[in-house]
Amino acid sequence: MSVLTINKLTSSVGAEVVGLDPDQLAHDDGLATAVLDALEDNGVLVFHGLNLSPEAQVALCERLGEVDRSADGHHPVSGIYPITLDKSKNKAADYLKASFVWHIDGCTPMHDECPQKATVLSAQQVARRGGETEFANAYAAYETLSDSEKQRYGSLRVVHSLEASQRRVNPEPTAEQLARWRSRPTHENPLVWNHRNGRKSLVLGASADYIAGMDVDAGRALLEELLAHSTTPEKVYSHTWSVGDTVIWDNQGVLHRAMPYEPNSPREMLRTTVLGDEPIQ
Ligand code: OGA
Ligand code: MN
Repeated sequence: MSVLTINKLTSSVGAEVVGLDPDQLAHDDGLATAVLDALEDNGVLVFHGLNLSPEAQVALCERLGEVDRSADGHHPVSGIYPITLDKSKNKAADYLKASFVWHIDGCTPMHDECPQKATVLSAQQVARRGGETEFANAYAAYETLSDSEKQRYGSLRVVHSLEASQRRVNPEPTAEQLARWRSRPTHENPLVWNHRNGRKSLVLGASADYIAGMDVDAGRALLEELLAHSTTPEKVYSHTWSVGDTVIWDNQGVLHRAMPYEPNSPREMLRTTVLGDEPIQ
């Protein structure tokens, strides 16, 4: 029996965890283990109105794995990164527009880092309109393919790049922007991720540019078709934020995106990322 009280939010992805207080969550090792188990089972965990402090958020994440501190300097608490389109709160805000397109975090790392294991967002301020976060189950995306599709796609490899994800929201970059995007190496990943736990998921999204060894346009059409298959309504949970909500997702088996919100919106999420140790293979 889990120590968590959980209500499923859809039949495919997402569950609400109720009855916890933020201090408990930050300091109880047994709870952290239960959170990791529930995350594996549900893909996304929602804690309505938890009002987790930034310090407690980082403390929780330290119990889930190793906290990413590589982008420190945007917030006074180490391990916290503000997600906002407001450049006065985050100078790299322009890059975040790509989060409006379905993606998996960390598919175009600087070196060979694995995609993050889990990501936590807590709502500081919400958008007046839009700004929901949507999650799609990438395990279900694989499992609902036909046997012949599973066989056909099992050997495909996909080239991911930062340029591909940025072009989707900024199709006419300056030479300087393009040079900056291209300074990040491209990565060739299998389309089907064989996880250590024996499950399989599809690795798709904004950074997926083309299929290696296939005509570029035909490959892009297939990637688009697979993304549409992966994000049909019955595979998606859409979270409408209230201030104080915390959401954790399994970044290895879930695609996510933000629904558009106004560029001058006060929306601000505080993010903490737990590093992954499982290569896409
Ligand atoms: C992210 C992300 C979506 C959102 O933090 O990685 O994609 O809704 N956020 O802000
Ligand atoms: Mn993201």
